[in-house]
Amino acid sequence: MAKIKIIGGNRLNGEIYISGAKNAALPLMIASLLSEEKLVLENLPALADVKQLKAILKNHGTQITEQEQNPKDESSIGKTVSFQAKIISDICAPYELVSEMRASFWVIGPLLARMGEARVSLPGGCAIGTRPVDFFLDGLKQLGAKIEIKDGYVIAKAPKGGLVGNRVHFPKISVGATHTIMMAATLANGTTIIENAAREPEVGDLANCLIKMGAKISGIGTHVLTIEGVKKLHGATHRTLPDRIETGTYAMAVAMTGGEVLLKNTNAKLLQSALDILIKAGVEISEEKNGIRVKANGAGLRPVDVETQEFPGFPTDLQAQYMALMIRSAGVANIKETIFENRFMHVAELARFGADIKVDGQVATVSGVPQLRGAQVMATDLRASVSLVIAGLVAKGETTVSRIYHLDRGFENLEEKLKRCGAQIERVND
Ligand code: EPZ
Repeated sequence: MAKIKIIGGNRLNGEIYISGAKNAALPLMIASLLSEEKLVLENLPALADVKQLKAILKNHGTQITEQEQNPKDESSIGKTVSFQAKIISDICAPYELVSEMRASFWVIGPLLARMGEARVSLPGGCAIGTRPVDFFLDGLKQLGAKIEIKDGYVIAKAPKGGLVGNRVHFPKISVGATHTIMMAATLANGTTIIENAAREPEVGDLANCLIKMGAKISGIGTHVLTIEGVKKLHGATHRTLPDRIETGTYAMAVAMTGGEVLLKNTNAKLLQSALDILIKAGVEISEEKNGIRVKANGAGLRPVDVETQEFPGFPTDLQAQYMALMIRSAGVANIKETIFENRFMHVAELARFGADIKVDGQVATVSGVPQLRGAQVMATDLRASVSLVIAGLVAKGETTVSRIYHLDRGFENLEEKLKRCGAQIERVND
């Protein structure tokens, strides 16, 4: 099994090209099921989750073609890939394919809207909470679908004439349920109003792509989305949004080690709340034309309390990385996780570096220590695993991170990007 080995103590200096966002790429790829024409997606990151979703889409009959890249052109690092589901050959998304990634469940929206039926295995994904699918099922029922759960599968059937637009109110903000109901509603008869919709930039990215495909959507960036159903969607070309979580992760890595790095092909507006917290903690951050410059002196930062929130608040997907940063702060920081009920699994692993963290319910209290020691640690989920890398970058001596398949789900060329900025990091096989 591959591991990541890090010798801590080097500053990060240079440039890092931010990839297309995993969490935008996945729903965009799924949207290709809504049309028989070609959807061309630019800036797709090469990640395990993207590969897994390609397998799922192929199983439904999607033809996938990768365009040649110019390896010398940095801006073409992200791949251009076309997806064409001329026909949907199978309306079933089987357990073997869906169980590894929660987002694959979202195919239920387009399949149901276009084919009138879908059979999709209940999802899997990172073990960060119970993550039910009740909002999806209630939302689809509001659009007229009949839902049955049998043998671990959701079997959904639309009324004879297709889904029917309606008001859908989510009891709590859900990114995935917003994506799914929005996609389903694009082909429904009449108008759907989604209330308490997620405002995450990835939802806006999907909406903009759907509009290019002929959908009628308004209210992007607000909590109320209005979707007027159309008969058909057509082909389009769309560039995937930069990854705000990757951006924030590298910003925190620089804040941790000290140094100066330009994060290219990204945009501060995508993660302003996280950048504001870093500035409060003492990191220098400036916006540039096509990126963000991050500068820090590598000394312990000021402790700043954080509470995870839906967008535009501090993202839960940066909570573990921020906790790693606060391990060396000059004081005590409280980190409250409000989105998922079990997203502190990195605490036990961070303790191996000598961190002082106490968890009480939703709150982790991090008391800064001056020096971390290298350790053997284990990745427990995607974002948790990168928090261990961040700690390893400053820890004295050698750190090995095992179970790094979690990292490969969401960070493209992680070791390469860090190595180019001066980190001593490599992938080793046992
Ligand atoms: C998306 O997950 C992201 N995944 C997550 O990133 C991210 O952490 C999360 O949104 C919150 O920002 C992708 O985009 C692929 P939710 P999603 O539905 O859509 C509850 C990563 O590391 N809920 O917004 O699955 C749920 O349990 C991943 O890249 C219900 O109760 O999250 C949670 O407490 C991890 N019933 C809350 O809503 C439902 O039917 C928000 O979850 C649906 C959700």
